[in-house]
Amino acid sequence: MATNTSPVMNVMIAAARKAARGLIRDFGEVEQLQVSRKGPADFVSQADLKAETVLLDELSRARPGYGFVLEEKGVVEGPDKSHRWIIDPLDGTTNFLHGIPHFAISIALEREGQLTAGLVYNPVRDELYRAEKGQGAHLNDRRIRVSARADLTQCLVATGIPFHGMDGHARFQQEMARVMGAVSGIRRFGAAALDLAFVAAGRFDAFWERGLKPWDIAAGIVLVREAGGEVSGLNDADLLETGDIIASNSHIHRPVQALVTPR
Ligand code: IPD
Ligand code: CA
Repeated sequence: MATNTSPVMNVMIAAARKAARGLIRDFGEVEQLQVSRKGPADFVSQADLKAETVLLDELSRARPGYGFVLEEKGVVEGPDKSHRWIIDPLDGTTNFLHGIPHFAISIALEREGQLTAGLVYNPVRDELYRAEKGQGAHLNDRRIRVSARADLTQCLVATGIPFHGMDGHARFQQEMARVMGAVSGIRRFGAAALDLAFVAAGRFDAFWERGLKPWDIAAGIVLVREAGGEVSGLNDADLLETGDIIASNSHIHRPVQALVTPR
């Protein structure tokens, strides 16, 4: 059990670790399945669902009545209207499917409409990122902070590329061209929850992406804010609703935002 964690964070950690054991077992199977004709897609969506069920069961048992927003099962209302969990059981599904060890479980807690706790767990590296409002952010037992880089030419920026079937390819190419010309480098690692966790840990200096879902970003938002960074939407609408997000250290927030969405 991690040190200096509240009872609710301990509940989140225990649920994530339990779900992660199944994910790790299933990830080990994926390579074998890739040779089969059907391919691993069905297997992976089963792995995803199983992890979600473990999280739902564990969290419901520990905090009866809280509601849920889940990637797979959608909204599950609870009698307690002031609390809800926002969960992605497997962020980085495409990586998982391709045998790439970069994926995570993401759990956030919302209280009275405010995000109050976030956990992102990468089981392959056993990296557990956690944050609670007013308590700072941690990677395992180490306090983390966003980077201090202020010079864009030294900044490493992460993004998400709209995939097949999504809108916004041309707009993304323009955003990418502007950012690419100003920063040290760009990364697309394929798990938004981990992109945000990496901003919180100072590995990435900034991250932007459009069209994400609440379960992709809710936990990561708490992490970045508690690590001293800034998170905002790319337009005036509600961040969790649009999923158009920019997160960074506070020195480069405005400059990166200006590159992504020039006025
Ligand atoms: C995806 C990842 C990816 C992002 C996609 C998300 P999933 O979540 O976070 O990095 O670019 O937009 O949908 O499908 O792997 O849970
Ligand atoms: Ca996701």
